[in-house]
Amino acid sequence: MITCDSLVYQPFRPAGGELACDGVSIQSIVERAGTPTYIYSARAIREAYRDIDDAFASYPHAIHYALKANSTLAIARLLQSLGSRADANSGGEIAVAERAGFAPRDIVFTGVGKTREELEYAITRGLGTINAESAGELDRIAAIAQAHGRVARVALRVNPDIDARSHPNISTGLKTNKFGVPLQDARAVYQARRDVAALQFVGVHIHIGSQITTVDPLRRAAESLVSLALQLRDEGFALEHVDLGGGLGIAYEGRPIIQPTDYAGAVIPELRRVGLPVVLEPGRAVVGRAGALIGRIVDTKCFPDGRKFAVLDAGMTELMRPALYGSFHRIEPVVPRTGGDTAWDVVGPICESSDVFGRDRALPPLQVDDLVAILDTGAYGSAMSSNYNRHLLPAEVLVDDGKWSVIRRRQTLDDVLALES
Ligand code: LLP
Repeated sequence: MITCDSLVYQPFRPAGGELACDGVSIQSIVERAGTPTYIYSARAIREAYRDIDDAFASYPHAIHYALKANSTLAIARLLQSLGSRADANSGGEIAVAERAGFAPRDIVFTGVGKTREELEYAITRGLGTINAESAGELDRIAAIAQAHGRVARVALRVNPDIDARSHPNISTGLKTNKFGVPLQDARAVYQARRDVAALQFVGVHIHIGSQITTVDPLRRAAESLVSLALQLRDEGFALEHVDLGGGLGIAYEGRPIIQPTDYAGAVIPELRRVGLPVVLEPGRAVVGRAGALIGRIVDTKCFPDGRKFAVLDAGMTELMRPALYGSFHRIEPVVPRTGGDTAWDVVGPICESSDVFGRDRALPPLQVDDLVAILDTGAYGSAMSSNYNRHLLPAEVLVDDGKWSVIRRRQTLDDVLALES
């Protein structure tokens, strides 16, 4: 069932004794772009998108890239050009999607706690589907749509009480989580609103979590969703799709995990029971492997117990995942020095003890000014960065077909202070 990740395209590989992105020297990029900088491989994004699309080729499907993973305009535009549609989680992401060229009809709007303004915008723009999180939200959507003389296309997000077996902070399908409507209540919520003229129920939605690395929770989620869709269709709801959300994990630690073909193989037999087109909302699996955060070592030190620290100019402000979830990212020197590996703690400069990228990592000799790459950070890296400690948001670079360009310039202190009096 589980396929090996070594078949997946790896954009960050050594070339000529140093780490390169699609063969382009990282050292030469950051000589001009500075550090910290995110570098992305367009090829890796294209291949990851195609892998998912191909895996579902035998079943009618639409990929709605989850912008929350990385919504830098150039990345969003790249996905749009590949034929992807969009999953937006806020008014800001809807606006970015539109600026990137996604048609309103190709955008689904998900998210707990949509504001009145966001709903008004989504309804009047005629978004493809609003995935409602509660009965109350459906009623607010109906009232707004009616006031504008519109019919809102909606689906209800159900919470199936399935353990995604991922990190607790990114598991969303348990009854203790805030997401969606309990599965057993969903039919009643649809039925009670079947005659509301301002609502058109076009689908059912589920998303049980992120960084899911086994197929069973995904298959069970599909099974629950399809069973609900069958019941609703029997009761006369003219559903157009079932939305399975995102969640497909990537192999951060290099161990084999499920691939898009495993995922498709597990859920398509369930989907065939209802036959409706499936909406997929992958984020991480599309962009995760395509990005690396490049930082420069600003200090090294050794404690009496032998623990060695390499302090980078990048920290939890640029990449929050390790501090927030204890998540693992491979760390590699960009130009490895000769000499045996020893254990290093690779840390950031932020005044928090959780500001650690990796502990006890076996690395070759490291010195001040060396460049270090933190891999598999294309998803939820830049998108979650902050100005804590007045760190400036990092630059972002896209490598495409042997050339590179800055797709987001580094923030300046003037950019930050422009908002303040
Ligand atoms: N659809 C919905 C409704 C979601 O909430 C999410 C992610 C996705 C799709 C995309 O899931 P993906 O395919 O990327 O797993 N910051 C965390 C991940 C949070 C995921 C939130 N929702 C991290 O860095 O691991």
